[in-house]
Amino acid sequence: MTARRALVTGASSGIGEAVARLLASKGYRVALLARRQAELERVLAELPGDGHVVLPCDLTDPAAIERSIETLDTRFGGLDLLVNNAGVGYRAKVEELDPKTLKRVFDTNVFALLLACQAALPLLRRSERAVVVNVASVVGRRGIPGQAAYSASKAAACSIGEALRVEWAEDRISVCTLNPALTTTGFFEAQANPGDLPHPDLAEASPADEVALHVLALDRRPEPERSLRWKWRLLGALSAIRPRLADRMLVRRLGGGWRTPRW
Ligand SMILES: NC(=O)c1ccc[n+]([C@@H]2O[C@H](COP(=O)([O-])OP(=O)(O)OC[C@H]3O[C@@H](n4cnc5c(N)ncnc54)[C@H](OP(=O)(O)O)[C@@H]3O)[C@@H](O)[C@H]2O)c1
Repeated sequence: MTARRALVTGASSGIGEAVARLLASKGYRVALLARRQAELERVLAELPGDGHVVLPCDLTDPAAIERSIETLDTRFGGLDLLVNNAGVGYRAKVEELDPKTLKRVFDTNVFALLLACQAALPLLRRSERAVVVNVASVVGRRGIPGQAAYSASKAAACSIGEALRVEWAEDRISVCTLNPALTTTGFFEAQANPGDLPHPDLAEASPADEVALHVLALDRRPEPERSLRWKWRLLGALSAIRPRLADRMLVRRLGGGWRTPRW
């Protein structure tokens, strides 16, 4: 049996690194994409199996995305699993937003996702069973205070998944959205936080390895969308049908001095 060929963006740390390790341990050939080449090489050196490849790339540069996919095609001759995982956070109240950072968040979390899907499409079309897993977030289904920009970028990622899974149905490419909740990675340290909003309590966070298992499960048996943690699933659904109740629940859950709106 030939190995499945996977591209994992944001594979230099956190969830992406855990996904790359898990897939390689299951016999996949893995292409590791991120900006920090040294970190990609570190992960590569520890992967079981062979035939893996690193693709140093800044996803905010559309031409660099094109080049990486071309290199991938030359090395792998196609693609079976695309894991769009790279992302950046931004903890800031709307009054503190800085246009440059805002652009970087949307370039990375939204535009790069669209452009990577577009560039990878010809490769995915050649696969016998193609799957795309977009790593969005539970906050894509319920915007949260202090993270309006990040929440909006992840809502866009959820929306892209909804559109794409129908658009690509004819090509039999399964598009899945995975919404992790809090996960113990360097994510919060890496992100802009101009107003110094308190970091969330990571006591209840999932390990990155647990999120990686969901990516593998989605590749084996694709589903449209999977949100981790039932309380967030409930919050997402309630926000659509009972927004006031959802606001109350959210404020209680977040703590941190946020107030429930009065109507
Ligand atoms: N941690 C959480 O609590 C949590 C919860 C829900 C969803 N998520 C989502 O999960 C995904 C992975 O996050 P994580 O928690 O694993 O955080 P992380 O450790 O900070 O990983 C982010 C990854 O994205 C890559 N990246 C960022 N900007 C990039 C760019 N311009 N070009 C290429 N690669 C870029 C980073 O690599 P380089 O710096 O080397 O480029 C890094 O590998 C993100 O999409 C995040 O939004 C995280």
